[in-house]
Amino acid sequence: MSFLRSYDAFKGPPFAFMTSSKTSVVLSVTTWFLMVQLCLGQHRALLGTTPNIKHIVVGRCYNYITLINATSRHDCEDIWRHFEEAVVRQSSCNVTMEDYHHMFRAMTQTWPCNRFLFWSKTRTLMHSYAAVMRHFWTLEDTLVGYMFNDLIWCGRERDSGFDFSACPEWSACRNHPVYSLWKLASQNFAEMACGNITVLLNGSIHHAFSRKSMFGSVELDYLNPQRVDYVNIKVVTSLEGPSVESCHQGSVVDLIQILQARGFRWTCTDNDQTLMILQCIQKSRQSSYQTCINSLFLRENPVSN
Ligand SMILES: *[C@@H]1O[C@H](CO)[C@@H](O)[C@H](O)[C@H]1NC(C)=O
Ligand SMILES: *[C@@H]1O[C@H](CO)[C@@H](O)[C@H](O)[C@H]1NC(C)=O
Ligand SMILES: *[C@@H]1O[C@H](CO)[C@@H](O)[C@H](O)[C@H]1NC(C)=O
Ligand SMILES: *[C@@H]1O[C@H](CO)[C@@H](O)[C@H](O)[C@H]1NC(C)=O
Repeated sequence: MSFLRSYDAFKGPPFAFMTSSKTSVVLSVTTWFLMVQLCLGQHRALLGTTPNIKHIVVGRCYNYITLINATSRHDCEDIWRHFEEAVVRQSSCNVTMEDYHHMFRAMTQTWPCNRFLFWSKTRTLMHSYAAVMRHFWTLEDTLVGYMFNDLIWCGRERDSGFDFSACPEWSACRNHPVYSLWKLASQNFAEMACGNITVLLNGSIHHAFSRKSMFGSVELDYLNPQRVDYVNIKVVTSLEGPSVESCHQGSVVDLIQILQARGFRWTCTDNDQTLMILQCIQKSRQSSYQTCINSLFLRENPVSN
């Protein structure tokens, strides 16, 4: 299970009940559903702090400041100390964004404009895109994102260590230690964004833009129209479809309205060619690349910006 931005989907209501006249059917379905939820819940609750977290976090930090950005001057031991201060001796549901302020102060970075890439529900594609378009920066390329990607942690009250046996789910806490860190990291990342920024959305699902996603609930609100020249939205559908939302349809239209109301300039592109070709490359083990590309250009005609 991936914890970086699994928050992307975490806030939605866990149950969507159906109505039916056949009460017994509903009951058995409901029971089954609850059992599945329970098992899932138990399974998730069993995930404690990632083993060896200190070595991973400090090691990633040294990797970053030594090999990835040799010009950055950060004190990795100091960052770890602030991290520990924020998390240990706290009940596992009681770590706020404020608790991380000292740590974030030790990790400040500035990025050049025109390179910020935001995304929602397009994680795999985003990774290929950022790898190919090397100038893009995502949250995972910042020091904090790099260091804490995919890790889990929580503390224990009256205990100077981490809880390695079990951490609560995000949805079970108001101030989950993992969520608070990502929320603050996302806020900072959005606040720093300048020049042209790119937003990658998934056109194959309903609510491609969701107010419950990290982009919709945090990042969007912290983007500054004085610093951002253009918000360039790219809506991309999966190769095999379906095509549910686009620049002219569904929640993307709501996003555009919000941007407009806040004084942002914007563009919106459906199925950007580079993104579609990238998907063909990703898929090319199953079908031949050429067939994939051909089908792309065949289906491109009816779709236009
Ligand atoms: C949560 O943390 C605050 C300050 O860090 C503390 O005053 C409060 O008692 C804690 N609450 C719980 C339930 O642990
Ligand atoms: C490295 O970090 C410095 C200062 O934070 C930043 O200006 C520069 O763009 C970064 N370079 C790379 C290649 O990450
Ligand atoms: C869109 O979301 C679906 C469902 O989560 C996923 O299977 C698909 O890979 C996503 N498409 C893109 C282009 O990211
Ligand atoms: C910013 O985006 C606008 C609209 O897409 C484009 O015309 C302009 O060239 C872009 N500027 C930079 C610096 O990329």
